[in-house]
Amino acid sequence: MMKAIVLFGSPGSGKGTQAKLLSECLGIPHISTGEMLRDRLRQGETLDTEVVATMEAGGLVSDEVVNRMVERRLGQPDAAKGFILDGYPRTLSQAERSCQWLAQRGERAVVIFLAVDYNIIISRLTGRRQCPRCGTLYNMVSQPPRMDEICDRDGEKLASRVDDSEGAIRERLEAYELQTRPVLQFYRANGGSVIEVDAGQGTPESIFERICQAMEADDRSKNRR
Ligand code: AP5
Ligand code: MG
Repeated sequence: MMKAIVLFGSPGSGKGTQAKLLSECLGIPHISTGEMLRDRLRQGETLDTEVVATMEAGGLVSDEVVNRMVERRLGQPDAAKGFILDGYPRTLSQAERSCQWLAQRGERAVVIFLAVDYNIIISRLTGRRQCPRCGTLYNMVSQPPRMDEICDRDGEKLASRVDDSEGAIRERLEAYELQTRPVLQFYRANGGSVIEVDAGQGTPESIFERICQAMEADDRSKNRR
C-alpha cells in the first residue's frame, strides 16, 4: 500500500531529522520543499530574486511556485510507492491542493505533528549546522560532530543556514503561527489522521521510536474500523 506521510511542525521541530530516519526505514523518498528550493538556488536554476529574498527573510514562497515544484516531484517514479513530505503543505491553499492530488490517486495523507516547545526550538535553530555535501544535520549543543564543525561522514566543513539568523527565525516562527498552524485544523476537520508526537524531549532516535509506535497504533485502529 502507498504511504503518503506529511511531517508537520514548526521550524526546528525536527522534520528534516525525522524524515531522514523514516525514509531510510520505509524505503520511500524524503521530499523537503525547503531543501528543494535551496538546491535550486545553489544550482543557479532560478534567478528569481523574489524567492531568494523571501527565503532569506524567513517568509513563505508563493503557493504557485511550491505547488508546481511538489506536483512535478511526486510524478517521479520513486514516489509511486509513497513519500514523506517535509515542510509541505504549509498554507491552507497548499493543503487543499495536495488533498485533491492524493484523492485522485485514491490516497489520503497520514499527518505526523511534531510538537515542540518554543524555547527548545530557538536553541535548536541557533545551534544547527548541516553538511553541504551529504546533508547530515548536526546541532552544536545537542548533536555535535566528533570534530569541531567537520562532518563525521565525509570530512566536509559544516555550514549554517542563512535563515537561521535571529531576525529570520522570528519571521519563520510568525509565518508558522499565522499561515501554517491552521493547516492542522484543516486536516482534523477533514477527518484525516493527525498523529501528535512529543518531539521536544529525547534523542532523535527515541523520538523516531515514538513516531513508529504511533503510526502502528494508527494503522491498527484503521484496520479495526
Ligand atoms: P524549511 O527548510 O522547511 O525550514 P523550516 O520549516 O523552517 O524547518 P527547519 O528545516 O528549520 O527545521 P526542521 O523541522 O527540519 O528541523 P531539523 O530537523 O533541521 O523551509 C525553509 C524556507 O523555505 C521557508 O522559510 C520558506 O521560505 C521556504 N519554504 C519551504 N517550504 C515551503 C512551502 N511549502 N511553502 C512556502 N515556502 C516554503 O532540526 C533542527 C535542529 O535541531 C538541528 O540542528 C537538529 O540537529 C536538532 N535536533 C533535531 N532533533 C533533535 C532532538 N531530538 N534533540 C536535540 N536536537 C535535535
Ligand atoms: Mg528542515
